[in-house]
Amino acid sequence: MQSSLQTLCLSLETLRRVKDRMLEAMERGLSHRTHDQATVRMLPTFIRAIPDGTERGEFLVLELGDTELRVLLMELSGDTCQKVTVKERHFPVTDAIMQGPGEKLFAFMATCLCEFLDGLRTRRTHFELGFSFPFSCRQTRLDQSYLISWTKRFKCPGVEGRDVVELLQSAINKQARYNIKVIAVVNDTTGTMMSCDASAGPCEVGLVVDAGTNSCFMAEARHVEMVEESEGRMGVVTEWGSFGDNGALNDMLSPYDHQVDQGSVHPGKQRFEKMIGGLYLGEIVRHILVELFSGRTTPALLTKGLVQTQDILEITNEQVGLATAQRVLRALGLEVSDQDCFSMQQVCTAVCIRAAGLCAAGLAAILSHMCSNRELTRLKTSVAVDGAVFRARSKFSQTLQQLVKQLAPECEVTLVQSDDGNGKGIAMVTAVASRLAAQRLQVNQTLALLQLSPDALGKVQALLRREMELGLKKETHAMSSVRMLPTYICATPDGSERGDFLALDLGGTNFRVLLVQVGSREQGGVQIVSEVYSIPPNVAQGPGTQLFDHIVECIVDFQTKQGMMDHTLPLGFTFSFPCQQTSLDQGVLLSWTKGFSASGCVGQDVVKLLREALKRRNHFALDVVAIVNDTVGTMMSCGYDDLNCEVGLIVGTGTNACYMEELRNVGTLAGEEGRMCINMEWGAFGDNGCLDAFFTPFDRQVDEASLNPGRQRFEKLISGMYLGEIVRRILLELTAKGILFRGRPSPKLQTPDIFQTKFLSSIESDGLALRQVCAILEELGLHVTSEDSVLVREVCQVVARRAAQLCGAAVAAVVEKIRENRGLEQLVVTVGVDGTLYKLHPHFAQQVQETVRLLAPRCSVTFLQSEDGSGKGAALIAAVACRVARHQRA
Ligand code: BG6
Ligand code: GLC
Repeated sequence: MQSSLQTLCLSLETLRRVKDRMLEAMERGLSHRTHDQATVRMLPTFIRAIPDGTERGEFLVLELGDTELRVLLMELSGDTCQKVTVKERHFPVTDAIMQGPGEKLFAFMATCLCEFLDGLRTRRTHFELGFSFPFSCRQTRLDQSYLISWTKRFKCPGVEGRDVVELLQSAINKQARYNIKVIAVVNDTTGTMMSCDASAGPCEVGLVVDAGTNSCFMAEARHVEMVEESEGRMGVVTEWGSFGDNGALNDMLSPYDHQVDQGSVHPGKQRFEKMIGGLYLGEIVRHILVELFSGRTTPALLTKGLVQTQDILEITNEQVGLATAQRVLRALGLEVSDQDCFSMQQVCTAVCIRAAGLCAAGLAAILSHMCSNRELTRLKTSVAVDGAVFRARSKFSQTLQQLVKQLAPECEVTLVQSDDGNGKGIAMVTAVASRLAAQRLQVNQTLALLQLSPDALGKVQALLRREMELGLKKETHAMSSVRMLPTYICATPDGSERGDFLALDLGGTNFRVLLVQVGSREQGGVQIVSEVYSIPPNVAQGPGTQLFDHIVECIVDFQTKQGMMDHTLPLGFTFSFPCQQTSLDQGVLLSWTKGFSASGCVGQDVVKLLREALKRRNHFALDVVAIVNDTVGTMMSCGYDDLNCEVGLIVGTGTNACYMEELRNVGTLAGEEGRMCINMEWGAFGDNGCLDAFFTPFDRQVDEASLNPGRQRFEKLISGMYLGEIVRRILLELTAKGILFRGRPSPKLQTPDIFQTKFLSSIESDGLALRQVCAILEELGLHVTSEDSVLVREVCQVVARRAAQLCGAAVAAVVEKIRENRGLEQLVVTVGVDGTLYKLHPHFAQQVQETVRLLAPRCSVTFLQSEDGSGKGAALIAAVACRVARHQRA
């Protein structure tokens, strides 16, 4: 007796081995390469989301069972309690139907559906239906599933190899009575998982221990190599019953397992299931009893199937177990003593505990797999369980719970018994699919506004080109939204620049003071020492004198730290705002942009404002020689390394570009010969209404809430200061429509500017797991589901892509103009680029470049990122200015 029991006893160590082997088998099932030979098939279900409690509506369910067809109408209430009202009818499935032609089977189902609906006396004619079809199928979509082979008692010719949804749908359509759309075809384990109450927290695992056993869980889609999608999650049915069919369990099988297997319909198959499923537990016990009662056996004991699993489970119960043991043994015609009943109880308990242990090892494998693939240190989930073996009040369920905890200690699991199992779950799958489809439609409609066709981009390019021409001509200058400001820079650096210079860099993310030492290339070229200072918003938006006093304080601090208070140095001032220049060292501020609005500055010469502030501080050791836009500084800085660099581009807090224009085209200036760098101030493109057709409601909201409504309209579609805000507005809209965050906006999401553009860059990072996206959003105080994070990522992608493409269309307009100016067939040109968005966003640069290639095919454009900021460029300009001044003095 003891030795019989010994072979059934699996230590914790052994169960850990089972878990590890199950994990390996699961990996093989998930991998494209090994899927076909895998014993654990890991079949994708195309279920992309679990219920979130908002599912509502009435759904039809059709369940094809062993002997009957069940038709149900389920009502989901849409609140988290998910009260389900069921109307149902059962129709017997006769042998003639089970074995008749396939067409008849599906016609039968369609007729039953109509009869059921007739009985409801409803006026409704449109229904969505979920179909439970419990046979082995190759599923390719939620509503497409090809029957591999009939099993159990079914054998209808003409169905194998065909899509059962299509067969059912056309049978329904032939009836031409009700408009029923088959939305989903579902396996019983997924039905169980989906039936779990959403209010108890996410339930992402389903387990069935009935006649057979199987499980399913929500996997990370990118690990399910059999499907193309890489975003979000996908339900996978493990089909773990066949685990061990390749010998993986051989060292754990007892002699009784071999006997059970030999006596089964499919010897050698479903080895794991045969140690756990209700169809087999009774048989295992029977074979042990045969050994135990050797010499005393009865014909009944020797007959397959006469020991019932339900009895076995009951015998393990401490209260009623012994009495049941006695009843069962007697029914088998055995003469039994108390000791026999006690032994019987021990046997049943051992079989039951082993089954639970194996099941726990499998479940632990799933949980650990989920935890590690989601890169979590702890996983919290419910597991929905159904099936007669679990439901019986036996040692099985208790043991299962305890052992899972020991075998997957990193997971916090709650086993939840599913109440209406399949039916409700299928309605849920249908409801979720229907919710997702409706939401997808709305999402597509919302995002379509932000998607630009190549034609639309070509239009933007042409419009900018027109505005450029208007802006350059004296007569039309005032009509153009693009100011095309002369910069008095007539050449890019030639490498002969020398000397020590100070530079200021104001208007980007950082305010910097720099010391730039320009030597010969042999001496190491340009050396830079710099310091970043902050400009608090109250200074950027307060009185102008305060702003310039602050700037001077920063200069003094820097010079003191560098020990150079008494050197008089020439200073180049990168001032990244639109200025009307009349010379290199004079620039009248036309308007503030981005986050600045200091009073008393617009209309003033900025160099003068700086000089006055220096005077107020009695600081005379500075000579401001040039004021430079950041685009120009960037072009010059990159031009020092690449002689072809004739365009400067900024995509950071703001966006803008400059380029070398033929002087003869600059109608606002005298002179015909040579070139001059033009600061386009393209951020204002569209301020005259020419881009109105491209603005979405979100863009209008962002504009209206900005410091400068109606201004810098192009910039507000593209640059870092605004993209996060556009995304936030879209998220608010999707939340209001109930598509995101279950329709509940968090107070944080209501806060302007909370969604910074740096989040866009991180959320779109390649290979970022969904968990990390969730973490970023949770930092913002948002409680997100994995679906929410997928959708937020999509919104970020669409907004950033539009920005990059618009920027590309604008660059295309510029390079094409340069090419035409010079009458070239092909232009080779370099664009010097700076700005956090361009540099840090994972796809932005590439999308800009692709668009330029598309729209300016005759220009070969190289994008060179500025490594040293525009301060270096400002210093180089100052150097040229000093050289020219020296010449003039000489
Ligand atoms: C910096 C330049 O590197 O980039 C600045 O030195 C420029 O002059 C800035 O304004 C633009 O990017 P951002 O992201 O800082 O606005
Ligand atoms: C804003 C400024 C512009 C600057 C750009 C990038 O558009 O008006 O001068 O070049 O931002 O910083």
